Amino acid sequence: MSAEEANRALLVEDIVAGYLPGVNILNGCSLRAADEEIVVVVGPNGAGKSTLIKAIFGLLRITSGRVMLDGFDITNSPPHEVTRRGMSYVPQVDNVFPSLTIAENLEMGGIVNPSASAGRAEEMCVLFPRLGERTGQRAGTLSGGERQMLAMARALMSDPAVLLLDEPSAGLAPAAVGEVFDTVSRINEEGVTIVMIEQNARRALALADRGYVLESGKNRFDGPGESLLSDPKVAELYLGGAAAH
Ligand SMILES: Nc1ncnc2c1ncn2[C@@H]1O[C@H](COP(=O)(O)OP(=O)(O)OP(=O)(O)O)[C@@H](O)[C@H]1O
Ligand SMILES: [Mg+2]
Repeated sequence: MSAEEANRALLVEDIVAGYLPGVNILNGCSLRAADEEIVVVVGPNGAGKSTLIKAIFGLLRITSGRVMLDGFDITNSPPHEVTRRGMSYVPQVDNVFPSLTIAENLEMGGIVNPSASAGRAEEMCVLFPRLGERTGQRAGTLSGGERQMLAMARALMSDPAVLLLDEPSAGLAPAAVGEVFDTVSRINEEGVTIVMIEQNARRALALADRGYVLESGKNRFDGPGESLLSDPKVAELYLGGAAAH
């Protein structure tokens, strides 16, 4: 491995994985995220985007290829170990405990890495003032946007270097979508590397240092966010229209 690769916060090489024996969903996916980058993954429904993130996080067995985090090989490490090594994950669905309060959800987020999580709940209440104002409210009664904020705050409790986000803006009203994107930028500005799957592809790529288009479990296109946005093929096939100029 070169010195440059060793400095990558996250390096995913040629991974093959699936849910059932003999049925591969990922057929050689690669991705890299340097320190403090925002990396965005887009692609059609069923392309394998969520599967890729699950495999990176240790929720799905990788049969070939490797995942390196901050120079360590974490291929097939269980999620709690990945979390301790500095990477957190916000799933696409069911990403908060609805019957628990905001404070309790944050507490749950800190369990895996208690030493890193001391004092973090207070910091999260500053970073997310709307959550801080109502720490006793049950997560199930929050709006969609507030729930996404809580899911991100919960994932940040372990003080990760890398945050994996699976469609944080899915199903939200336009105003809340904007808030989620602003929040992702703020988290990134605090020094956290972001790997984000998004259906709001144009908006997400506009924010991205680098983007990946996934199709049928393989990389189809990758490059700086702006290059993908201005690529007529990417625009026509994956962004529903003409390229940005
Ligand atoms: N738990 C599972 N068991 C078996 N197959 C699954 C499972 N989860 C997903 N798949 C299959 O894996 C493929 C990729 O699904 P995945 O959820 O990764 O796609 P995606 O790109 O995230 O799509 P979307 O944009 O709809 O979220 C699909 O064919 C899906 O049916
Ligand atoms: Mg998905």
